[in-house]
Amino acid sequence: MAFKVPRGTQDILPENTPKWQKIESILRELARVYRYKEIRTPIFEHTELFQRSVGDTTDIVQKEMYTFEDRGGRSLTLRPEGTASTVRAYVEHKMYGAPDQPIKLSYMGPMFRYERQQAGRYRQFVQFGVEAIGSADPAIDAEVIAFAMDIYQTVGLKDLKLMINSLGDKETRDTHRTALINHFKPHIHEFCDDCKNRLEKNPLRILDCKVDREHPLMQTAPKLTDYLTPTSREYFEQVKKYLEILGIEYEVDPNLVRGLDYYTHTAFEIMSTAEGFGAITTLCGGGRYNGLVEEIGGPDVPGIGFALSIERLLLALEAEGVELELDDALDVYVIALGDEAKLKAVELISSFRLKGISADMDYLMRKMKAQMKSADRLQAKFVVIIGETELEEGVVVVKQMETGNQEKVEINEIVNYLKQQLSID
Ligand code: HAM
Repeated sequence: MAFKVPRGTQDILPENTPKWQKIESILRELARVYRYKEIRTPIFEHTELFQRSVGDTTDIVQKEMYTFEDRGGRSLTLRPEGTASTVRAYVEHKMYGAPDQPIKLSYMGPMFRYERQQAGRYRQFVQFGVEAIGSADPAIDAEVIAFAMDIYQTVGLKDLKLMINSLGDKETRDTHRTALINHFKPHIHEFCDDCKNRLEKNPLRILDCKVDREHPLMQTAPKLTDYLTPTSREYFEQVKKYLEILGIEYEVDPNLVRGLDYYTHTAFEIMSTAEGFGAITTLCGGGRYNGLVEEIGGPDVPGIGFALSIERLLLALEAEGVELELDDALDVYVIALGDEAKLKAVELISSFRLKGISADMDYLMRKMKAQMKSADRLQAKFVVIIGETELEEGVVVVKQMETGNQEKVEINEIVNYLKQQLSID
């Protein structure tokens, strides 16, 4: 029997890892300049954490979690997202007591959702996310959105659309909730069982039902935006003003409610508008969650953040035909001709590597021609050739592959020579 990866997962093969590493390093560098320090939390958490935060009536909790019982009979769940764990850690480690607020955190790692497999939708995917906890300043909403946009611009994407909305405060949500119940109740028998369940528990979730998407009542449903309290409206105006100051273009989408329960006020998504991008165009999602810290057992502290998956970012790059600049080339390939030379070659590549010069050689005892071909395929910048006569003279032949120039360099000087050529300190 031949084994295959589980459905919805993938191997990232060595020819693709340089792309991943490049993106990861861009993300880490941006986290450094925006000052969102990395936090690493476990891959699994107590199931109740996600039920309480993401929400009992959401698709994620109801249908998509990888939940299992451990040997001690506890219910654990592979994390479907990173906000719940981050906020749990914030509360558990009493970060709200630190002198400098807000606490700005970032994370990167695998998340798990049992979703139907399709382009851009995996069961294991890597999210990069940030959370700014401890400030209700609309300027930080703009900072978080700017950070997300900056990521896509830095990797070279252009076909982007930023959608924003406000989900308001608790009062907004309560009045809107009543309006939704009144709207759907007379026709609820025409909806799926999930929606029937959601009606009393969380009618907002009906709006992102995948089954009843086309029902005419969906179009005419009361919009949150019409129920915003004056404070919520003012907050949203401020966020928009800061976005304008930053020169960030946006579109307000009153139907944007997001698929997780913890959101209040600002919600946003970044979509790819590239032709040929699959059906799922959302690259990034985020928003404010002012009640979440308290819900998880902490003080009443506001927060905001976003998350994106590297998988979808890569799809967007492909759809726009953007090539990342990858530095995967080999600095030097060493070719030894003869047994004595081979001994010297082994010694040389070791001294190259000690100085940070990437080096490789043949381990199959192939002929010179085959070794040159390898050097070409590996995109070696230099080839160092050691033959018997060179060895006697105490020199090596160095070939610069791009120009084809060849020269003799003293063996004792070769490390310095290459360091200089490669601009390595
Ligand atoms: P989310 O909208 O569920 O939000 O996911 C955020 C991003 O994760 C999506 O926009 C997409 O890029 C990626 N993603 C989600 N599911 C999949 C999947 N099955 N396959 C590939 N990529 C996927 C959250 O997770 C929130 N925690 C975001 C947040 C942080 N809000 C505040 N702070």
